[in-house]
Amino acid sequence: MLRSVGFLGWAVLAAASEMRSDDFPNYDQGTIPAWKDLASLRGAHPAAQVMSKAEYHRQLKSLDIPRLYREIAALMTSSRPYWPADGPQDGDVPSYAGLFARLAWHCSGSFRLINDTHAAGGCEGARQRHWPENEWRDNTNLDKARGLLAEVKLQFGDVSWSDLMTFAGTAAIKLSGGPAKKFCFGRMDDVNGDRSIPLGVEGVTQCRGSKFCKSDAECPNSFRWPEQNDTDHARCNIEQPKHRLQASHSVGLIYVYPEGPELKSTADGYNSNFVHNRSPKLSALEVRDTFRDRMGWTDRETVALIGGGHTLGRTHGNCNLTGTKWAQAPYNNVGPYFEATPGSLRGPTDGTCGTGAEAGRGKNTVSSGFEGPWTRSPSRWNYDFFDALLSEEWVPAKSPYGADQWHTRNETSKFARTMRLTADVSLVADKIYRPIVEEYAADHAQFDADFADAWFKLVHRSEDHPHKDDLEKDAGVCTSFEFTTLLP
Ligand code: HEM
Ligand SMILES: *[C@@H]1O[C@H](CO)[C@@H](O)[C@H](O)[C@H]1NC(C)=O
Ligand SMILES: *[C@@H]1O[C@H](CO)[C@@H](O)[C@H](O)[C@H]1NC(C)=O
Ligand SMILES: *[C@@H]1O[C@H](CO)[C@@H](O)[C@H](O)[C@H]1NC(C)=O
Ligand SMILES: *[C@@H]1O[C@H](CO)[C@@H](O)[C@H](O)[C@H]1NC(C)=O
Repeated sequence: MLRSVGFLGWAVLAAASEMRSDDFPNYDQGTIPAWKDLASLRGAHPAAQVMSKAEYHRQLKSLDIPRLYREIAALMTSSRPYWPADGPQDGDVPSYAGLFARLAWHCSGSFRLINDTHAAGGCEGARQRHWPENEWRDNTNLDKARGLLAEVKLQFGDVSWSDLMTFAGTAAIKLSGGPAKKFCFGRMDDVNGDRSIPLGVEGVTQCRGSKFCKSDAECPNSFRWPEQNDTDHARCNIEQPKHRLQASHSVGLIYVYPEGPELKSTADGYNSNFVHNRSPKLSALEVRDTFRDRMGWTDRETVALIGGGHTLGRTHGNCNLTGTKWAQAPYNNVGPYFEATPGSLRGPTDGTCGTGAEAGRGKNTVSSGFEGPWTRSPSRWNYDFFDALLSEEWVPAKSPYGADQWHTRNETSKFARTMRLTADVSLVADKIYRPIVEEYAADHAQFDADFADAWFKLVHRSEDHPHKDDLEKDAGVCTSFEFTTLLP
């Protein structure tokens, strides 16, 4: 299918691949390869939805929602050899719940609130299938999630990708035993990624079709905290222009830099015995900058969303690439290298650990480089995220990939096989977030209710429908999952 070698120097990358997209049925349905999308920027891509909104909304009235839910349920728990489901490596059942929930979150998390009437981003448009969003580092391996969902998409051809991705994430939470109140359909897909360009173009130097590469993604004023090590990553937000649409750190990170700022050796609290000195306190300020000041979440919604999101699934970084070619240019660059290459499912972050069919997949997957689940049952809804955040002492640690994360000090604790990101630990280090964490640990029903409300808002707001009830008013096709009580 994707055999042809483009004009962008793909030959080298394509030759490096072992796994062909043909091994992954329907993979091509879920991602419009960047080199094809270049063409789509000049004209509508044939894969794009062409139906009018009125026609789509009319057809939705006869959508068999319970059947769609059942198909997602069947897919979610049946591990495919070409992209094995997580769970077993953490002592749980195989499930794509975490993967599908992350897909819906990353599709929706591009949402930026500009003022009362205007917004940008959001999942509607399904531009994650297109350049530039499919190259954002944060979206690594979500091409696999879309490829899996393509199996369902093919059976429900007229359901838009943006409805399917948000519904699959919501169904995944519900099917895992988590809370979901309501879901409304009616999102239209865009024909290309144009409307994401203002949200950020990564790898601007390699931009295809230069006139499309203008965005305010670059940091006009890079910023480091006074306590932060000068060699550590900078952030752009403090003096960035008003209404800059990116997250606090960089274009490729739709939310927040997960490792947090590294302290300099002279800063308060620096400990030379630690394997890293990431600051949860400073990280909290970055979380707030992105979630409250750019996405329009309250502090309470922020805590509920992060805790709920990081209840299911895991991080992927069980692979040390140091000394391999994957740790060197061009593979470690941003931009096209974070997308599967034509004819391959292999990008640098897919890793080369493991051999044969196991290479770069299953337990050898590298997405973010962090490693481990947050909870003891990552395939089933549970309350470990906040409970363990409070009950354990979290100490600096490294993933096998080399990323800075946190483990329990007590190595025999029941939570010892779980992990936290600095951005997670920030929720107990921050004076405003901490009482909310305490409330949620003490009152799981309150947490469930708040998470369900925030999640509803997350997957429904977009540039086209900036308020949480806009979509319902527009299309009027919603479900409250009443039918699930009738399912076996
Ligand atoms: C401060 C904000 C956040 C940061 C820094 C963050 C960071 C991360 C990272 C680094 C991963 C691992 C990706 C991988 O290696 O596969 C991850 C996974 C995940 N995140 Fe977040 N996240 C944040 C907020 C959220 C929110 C708000 C949600 C949902 C509401 C969410 C849902 C998930 C899910 C479900 C996964 C598991 C993916 C899987 O199992 O494959 N995250 N997150
Ligand atoms: C909101 O932002 C949009 C786009 O920047 C602008 O056109 C509009 O005038 C603003 N509205 C208000 C009420 O500030
Ligand atoms: C900053 O980090 C670098 C690289 O880890 C290290 O060599 C240096 O000593 C640090 N500087 C301070 C002041 O902590
Ligand atoms: C990764 O491998 C390199 C080279 O073998 C080694 O120096 C480094 O310590 C390893 N990193 C981790 C986090 O294990
Ligand atoms: C560590 O956890 C184990 C198992 O829960 C517990 O018995 C032990 O007391 C804990 N140790 C410390 C130092 O808290």
